[in-house]
Amino acid sequence: MMRTRPLKVALLGCGVVGSEVARIMTTHADDLTARIGAPVELAGVAVRRPSKVREGIDPALVTTDATALLKRGDIDIAIEVIGGIEPARTLITTAFDHGISVVSANKALLAQDGAALHAAAETAGLDLYYEAAVAGAIPLVRPMRESLAGDKINRVMGIVNGTTNFILDKMDSTGAGYQEALDEATALGYAEADPTADVEGYDAAAKAAILAGIAFHTRVRLDDVYREGMTEVSAADFASAKRMGCTIKLLAILERAADGESVTARVHPAMIPLTHPLASVREAYNAVFVEAEAAGRLMFYGPGAGGAPTASAVLGDLVAVCRNKLAEATGPGESAYTQLPVSPMGDVVTRYHISLDVADKPGVLAQVATCFAEHGVSIDTVRQQGKDGEASLVVVTHRAPDAALSGTVEALRKLDTVRGVSSIMRVEGE
Ligand code: NDP
Ligand code: HSE
Repeated sequence: MMRTRPLKVALLGCGVVGSEVARIMTTHADDLTARIGAPVELAGVAVRRPSKVREGIDPALVTTDATALLKRGDIDIAIEVIGGIEPARTLITTAFDHGISVVSANKALLAQDGAALHAAAETAGLDLYYEAAVAGAIPLVRPMRESLAGDKINRVMGIVNGTTNFILDKMDSTGAGYQEALDEATALGYAEADPTADVEGYDAAAKAAILAGIAFHTRVRLDDVYREGMTEVSAADFASAKRMGCTIKLLAILERAADGESVTARVHPAMIPLTHPLASVREAYNAVFVEAEAAGRLMFYGPGAGGAPTASAVLGDLVAVCRNKLAEATGPGESAYTQLPVSPMGDVVTRYHISLDVADKPGVLAQVATCFAEHGVSIDTVRQQGKDGEASLVVVTHRAPDAALSGTVEALRKLDTVRGVSSIMRVEGE
């Protein structure tokens, strides 16, 4: 039976994502009503700059006092699309204190304080949904939390940041400079308010922490995720990758150890073969491989950033939370029962691509090879190009623990015949 009293929604934030949420709520109002079984009403919009013109938003709904909006007594659901830690965290807990379920797109906050927020939602008997926090429009959180809840996920690898994929794609395909590509990604609404979060890998690391927690039913915090950004990736790296039949992507890789007793979570640029499906993920698209014991390999692909795609994920959560509210139920909360430790990066087994500048004289190659051997690292290929008594050497290793690989690089740097280590990059996806 259709309920006539509307479910009232407080929209906290009305920027790139929030303005699209408001637009879709208005234009699809009848469909949303039919799908939920009750009308949903935009009852208030909290922003920072009240005088800004906001197309399609009734100015009477706009306030700068988000707390008062949540406390006024008639709000059923809050959508938090402000971003950052504060005031978002306090507003979400205020919502729970006032019987209001929450939909959020805030990966930074969930990666930092997810456990406390989930606990607060559970104590209050309310929902905390966050599909939009990971990989924009792509349904990933719900499939992993619900559809794969009966399987065992062993590995997740993907591109989870649209801005950096956009930049790397432009650098690779058009030779665009880093800053030019970043400016374009920012203008298109993909980048975070502070794009350092994107380019230094913090945004991808936050998403990695959230996905690892869901995949392995354990608690993984932002600080547990090994992180390297992509600001050091150069045109020379792309040229070197091309010679190997590879391209470069910023990857998030989450793995359960072979003995099942620990997990690892990391974000860093990596070379991947052009034949790998992730190599063809262009612009701000995201793609995530999930490897589960029974299901096998699943790939999720779609727009990873931008106002409308992210609003699609927010609206999906809004419908789910509204349905739960009408059924007087809540959706699944946090599942962290395995309590698996997160191992350090040194334990990860991977491959390195290392570019060295060395003296071009007898015995240098043998000296370099000995350095790898002493650290237990086996060499896969070596390419050397000499010029004027100097040579550039590109070494690609077989798989070895990251600690052994970084120990090798440290030792190489100390050799008199090694003038410099110009680039180190992991090789994945083979
Ligand atoms: P914007 O910076 O475009 O929007 C932020 C909004 O929050 C603005 O409307 C701003 O008001 C409002 N705001 C800021 N401070 C306050 C405050 N103290 N009280 C009330 N309102 C406030 O961010 P986005 O829309 O891009 O991102 C929002 C969230 O969605 C973030 O968590 C982000 O990580 C996440 N996200 C973003 C995606 C994207 O592609 N952009 C994709 C996936 C997730 P005003 O308009 O007045 O400045
Ligand atoms: N800044 C983020 C990105 C937004 O570029 O992926 C989507 O989470």
